[in-house]
Amino acid sequence: MLTQQTYIMLKPDALKRQLLGEIITRIEKKGYQIVQAKLMQLDAPIIAEHYAHLTDQPFYPKLERYMLSGPVFGMVLEGEDVIRGMRNMMGPTNVFEAAPGTIRGDYATDVTYNLIHGSDTPETAEAEIKRFFG
Ligand code: TYD
Repeated sequence: MLTQQTYIMLKPDALKRQLLGEIITRIEKKGYQIVQAKLMQLDAPIIAEHYAHLTDQPFYPKLERYMLSGPVFGMVLEGEDVIRGMRNMMGPTNVFEAAPGTIRGDYATDVTYNLIHGSDTPETAEAEIKRFFG
């Protein structure tokens, strides 16, 4: 049994579209525990730190505008193999490849406005939890 923690962030479109309850219900029904949660307005420096691997990409200005466009809801989830489990529930980054039944597959139509972030490795989970929850 591999109990892990992951950092999940419901992005500005999830709040604007009032999908918070829907997404959290899926997480709870799956069996993951929410151990920390908060609403935050991010600023440009923390977005650049979080997406440091993407700041030189042509789509970065659009991504930054989107992440600045409203509050996000950050959570620390705990559960067995939760990092991989949440990535599966989210669906792939490219929403056109995200299958029905996944969060992005069911609710997102644009690669940038894709509702949810989830850590992809134990190392990034640890760094992201520290970044957003101290
Ligand atoms: P990335 O870390 O590659 O994916 P994920 O969020 O699935 O871990 O990308 C971060 C975000 O950057 C992604 O959620 C949406 C945005 N993005 C674009 O807007 N266009 C793109 O072509 C890519 C690859 C990402």
